[in-house]
Amino acid sequence: MRKVVVMNPKGGSGKTTLATNLAAYYANAGGKVVLMDYDPQGSSARWIAARPADRPSIDLVKAFERSTRTTRSWQLHTSLDATHVIVDTPAGTTRETLEEFTRDADAVVIPVLPSEIDIHAASRCIGDLLLCAKIKPRDGRIGVVANRVKKNTRVYQALLRFLKALEIPFITSLRDAQAYVHAAGLGQGIFELPQYRVKTDVESWQPLLTWLDSEQLTSKSESAAS
Ligand SMILES: Nc1ncnc2c1ncn2[C@@H]1O[C@H](COP(=O)(O)OP(=O)(O)OP(=O)(O)O)[C@@H](O)[C@H]1O
Ligand SMILES: [Mg+2]
Repeated sequence: MRKVVVMNPKGGSGKTTLATNLAAYYANAGGKVVLMDYDPQGSSARWIAARPADRPSIDLVKAFERSTRTTRSWQLHTSLDATHVIVDTPAGTTRETLEEFTRDADAVVIPVLPSEIDIHAASRCIGDLLLCAKIKPRDGRIGVVANRVKKNTRVYQALLRFLKALEIPFITSLRDAQAYVHAAGLGQGIFELPQYRVKTDVESWQPLLTWLDSEQLTSKSESAAS
C-alpha cells in the first residue's frame, strides 16, 4: 500500500485538486483507492459524492469525523486492502497536526501557488515538516508541485528560484487550467475528461506519477513494513 499525503497550511493551494486527481488516476489504473479527507470542509467528500457511478470507484474515509472508536476502526479497516491511500488535509495545519497527518506517509506532496505569500507559507510549512515530523530532507519523501502556474511571469520565476534553492525535490508544474475546475465539479479527475482537451495537462502530471512510483519511495515503504 502506498500512502500519499497532500498538504500545505495555505488555503486554496490545490491540495484537494491534487488529492482527487491522484485518486482518480490510480482508480483508473485498476487500483483500490481510499481517499482520506481530513478537512472538515469536506471538499474531497463532496467530490466523491458527485462521482458518476460508471467511473472506477474510490472509497472515502471522512477522517475529520473521528469522534467514536467505531469510526476509527472502520477507517483502518477500509484502508487495509487498499493499493493507494491518498490523504487530503485541511488549510491551517499546525505543527502539532503535521505529525498526525504525515505518520506512515510514503510521500508528502506540497502544492505551491506562484505568489509571494504562498512561497513564504510553503517555506514555513516545509521547515515545520522537517523539524516536527522527523522527515529528513534527504529522505526524498517530500516533493513540491508548483500549481496554477502561468509561465513567463515574474512571480513564477521567483517560485522556481525558491524551489531550486530547497534541498527537496521540485517535481512538476501544473498550469492554471479550467479543466481542473470542470473535472472537480463532475466528481472526476482530468484523466477522465476527453483526452484532446487535457493532453498538455495530463503530460504535466507524468513527473509526479513517476516520482510517486519511484524505487526510492517503494523501498522506503517496504523497509517500514518489515
Ligand atoms: N491548476 C489549477 N488550475 C485552475 N484551477 C485550479 C487549479 N488548481 C486548483 N484550482 C482551483 O482552485 C480552487 C482551490 O483549489 P483546491 O480546493 O484544490 O485548494 P485547497 O488547497 O484544497 O483549498 P483548501 O485549503 O480550502 O482546502 C478550486 O476552485 C480549484 O478548482
Ligand atoms: Mg481542500
